[in-house]
Amino acid sequence: MNAISNAALSTPLLTPFLVERNKKHFIDGRWVGSASGECIDTFNPATGGLLATLARGRQEDVDRAVRVARQAFEGPWRRFTPGQRQRLIMRFAELFDKHFDELTLLESLDMGAPLHTRLRPGKAALVQTILYYAAQARNIQGETPHNSLPGQVTTMILKAPVGVVGAIIPWNGPLFAQMHVLGPVLATGCTAIIKPAEDASLTVLRTAELLVEAGLPPGVVNVVTGIGAEAGAALAAHPDVNRIAFTGSTGVGREIIKASAGNMKRLQLELGGKSPDIVFADADLDKAVPGVAMGVYGNSGQICFAGTRVFVQRSIQAEFLERMSAFGNTLKVGDPLALETDLGPLITQRQLDRVLGYVEQGKQEGAALVSGGRRLGGDLANGYFLEPTLFGNVSNQMTVAQEEIFGPVASVIPFDTADEALALANATPYGLASGVWSANVNTVMKMVHGIQAGTVWVNCYGMVDPAVGFGGYKESGYGWKGGAAQIDGYLYQKAAYINVTA
Ligand code: NAI
Ligand code: MG
Repeated sequence: MNAISNAALSTPLLTPFLVERNKKHFIDGRWVGSASGECIDTFNPATGGLLATLARGRQEDVDRAVRVARQAFEGPWRRFTPGQRQRLIMRFAELFDKHFDELTLLESLDMGAPLHTRLRPGKAALVQTILYYAAQARNIQGETPHNSLPGQVTTMILKAPVGVVGAIIPWNGPLFAQMHVLGPVLATGCTAIIKPAEDASLTVLRTAELLVEAGLPPGVVNVVTGIGAEAGAALAAHPDVNRIAFTGSTGVGREIIKASAGNMKRLQLELGGKSPDIVFADADLDKAVPGVAMGVYGNSGQICFAGTRVFVQRSIQAEFLERMSAFGNTLKVGDPLALETDLGPLITQRQLDRVLGYVEQGKQEGAALVSGGRRLGGDLANGYFLEPTLFGNVSNQMTVAQEEIFGPVASVIPFDTADEALALANATPYGLASGVWSANVNTVMKMVHGIQAGTVWVNCYGMVDPAVGFGGYKESGYGWKGGAAQIDGYLYQKAAYINVTA
């Protein structure tokens, strides 16, 4: 085992969960092996070393978890009052806070995000997100519309939990991603089966264990690990699952839509993106340069809303490229557990190869490689590390400007007028997020109204608040994460007509 894993193993946070290397499914509050007995390996992307084995879930395991989740939905969980659900979520928030160092270490080992500059500073936001959902548990209400029916008919619109929810989440930030399912599930009284990504399942398994410790009845939240095309597909097609929340690639999103047709599942899909980040000549470049750069390079570019199409007004393109390249060079790429590391590795060799393939294609199609573009060697040669990469003089038709790369690769595209920027920004099948950097309120408002995307950030990038929420437009998916709209997605409406004849 090499230097990076040795450092991790000597940490005082070596908890029983970390020591046990053969992970099972978490079903009905217990660790359960796969029906087939099969396992899959999961790796530390910083070292390429084996981190743990996961149970390989298939149809039979998913069937078992869905049966348990259905029973739990009909069981004592149904009688929890909103106040009791709120209290439980608050206890979970406390436990999550208490175990935060262990959870973030696990996450860093499993998917490579920098522990000290990315995961640990996210504590307040994560705990606040859980507490937001605790409040939502007390905020569910129906309606009593006045009707014009003959007689004494009282009409009510009741809201009831939708039932068993399947959640399929990606590897780029499972600790956070799972909260946007756990929160609404627990707030509304649904039950869930989570299928984490095969490349990063550990924090999701550990969180499920903490939920039971917080007092959640066994079976309310279950985790089935495994491969997308097996466990994921079985969950997406299962006839007794009422809703699927999926975050991942647009291609798999299409598969989920098809699989949902059998029993008309409700869906929430957060898919790929190729988000524009637009810098006008009047922007404060001291803020815009680091803001734009971290909007692409943060989490090594493995973020759905990464602002990878950087539109820069032509008069400042040369200066912007120089400053963004200089900023990129200050970023420390390396061991995710080291204090000063800004960017960790990509998740797998496959993902690294994919991203390097895009870099090659960018060069071939005539984009100017300003900086980066190479895999890191030396001490880091066993991990999947890539330099922050910057292309200049890109045109919006090039592959690097059209396809989701999911790596630290920025493409700068020059523009002249605001109308041109808007037309280019919208010339994409995606519509997840966007950014605008300008000191002119007219320019800002023109962009805010004109951009076709689920989020517009102005003079900032990447802020998300659960009360506001997040969601996609066009091929970036549908269904809102956060806010009242999300809670509604975990409920169904039932109209009652009560004809009192007495
Ligand atoms: P993916 O979409 O295959 O994986 C996401 C999740 O879906 C994982 O849990 C996976 O096991 C599951 N899954 C895969 N195939 C499935 C199927 N047929 N039915 C049900 N579940 C299935 O993404 P992958 O392969 O990990 O990454 C490929 C590309 O997808 C990335 O390069 C990136 O462009 C995009 N992606 C986007 C994400 C986002 O947050 N928008 C997150 C992850 C990947
Ligand atoms: Mg891993």
